[in-house]
Amino acid sequence: MDAGSHALAAEAAPIAVAAGPYVAPLMGAVEDLLTEVAAATAPALAPHGASTIAAGGKRLRPLLVLVAAGGAPDDPAGLVRAAASVELVHSATLVHDDVLDGADLRRGQPTVVATAGPGMATAAGDQLFARAFTLLVANGRPDEVRVLSDAGSALARGELLQREDAWNAEVTLDRYLLRCELKTARLFESACTLGVMESPATATDPRMLAPFGRDVGLAFQILDDVLDVQGPAERTGKHRGTDLLDGTVTLPFILARERDPALRAIEPRTITSAEQAEQVCDAIASTGALAEAREQALALVERARASLPDGLGRAQREALELVAHGVVARYA
Ligand code: IPE
Ligand code: IPE
Ligand code: MG
Ligand code: MG
Repeated sequence: MDAGSHALAAEAAPIAVAAGPYVAPLMGAVEDLLTEVAAATAPALAPHGASTIAAGGKRLRPLLVLVAAGGAPDDPAGLVRAAASVELVHSATLVHDDVLDGADLRRGQPTVVATAGPGMATAAGDQLFARAFTLLVANGRPDEVRVLSDAGSALARGELLQREDAWNAEVTLDRYLLRCELKTARLFESACTLGVMESPATATDPRMLAPFGRDVGLAFQILDDVLDVQGPAERTGKHRGTDLLDGTVTLPFILARERDPALRAIEPRTITSAEQAEQVCDAIASTGALAEAREQALALVERARASLPDGLGRAQREALELVAHGVVARYA
């Protein structure tokens, strides 16, 4: 397996180096598999799946699968399939998420919904989702399929919860955190568990990294919500203020409303233009809410680190700590 033709994303590279030399070639194999699977779907949908995969992204979830394994098994095909299947579920949900959120920029490129409409985007996402399971089934492990399908169900519930709470500026912190757990943290958790399940180590508890994955995933979503307010689009690959425009009330807005009566008086439905959204983003930032949200994410990262079991190898521990740290260090 040759990693030479695949450059790792900037966020992924130091983690891969810390984890050990097995990771880069396996990430190369994951990329090859993703490209193959995305191209081999129904002809009308293939370009959309392929462009979503080709646009890149940080590839944090498949990397987490490989790092959670702690090393390469003699035959790494099952581990590579598990890592690729997690990224396929993630990519599928992004294509669907952009339909729900009315987003037109993703991974620095026009979204599928913007280029081909909601019907095509829904079908293209469905295809990627289905292909994830076609791939994972080849591992012959119903327990692995169960782990990934549970994460997929949680994701759907999280997106539904987000729709239910749309435009509600008074959404509670607990509801917000539940949404983040369902739509994001559970997939991070499943990445860790699948990696452990395909680990060359024997007699490990398959869920030993689940608490770590969940807390890192929660922190990750909080930071994503911070970056939605903070931008810039050139670095995040997504427009600033997308959450405000689609009625998604997130931690920065929740915290900023507590601090600034003018923000408390804003009815989310009245934010209808990109310019208005940018102004509200500036107002949120000037309350210090972004720093406070980052603090909350940092606390989750610390909890994630503390949950790492004793007995992990030095390289694996270091790589997992880098994953956790990378979440809060994004564009600080
Ligand atoms: C975006 O995830 C969706 C969230 C859960 C916030 P990423 O920020 O990992 O997206 P890519 O894969 O790097 O594009
Ligand atoms: C995460 O939420 C979406 C999924 C988990 C599918 P967001 O709606 O905040 O993600 P982005 O910002 O569009 O990537
Ligand atoms: Mg979105
Ligand atoms: Mg977002």
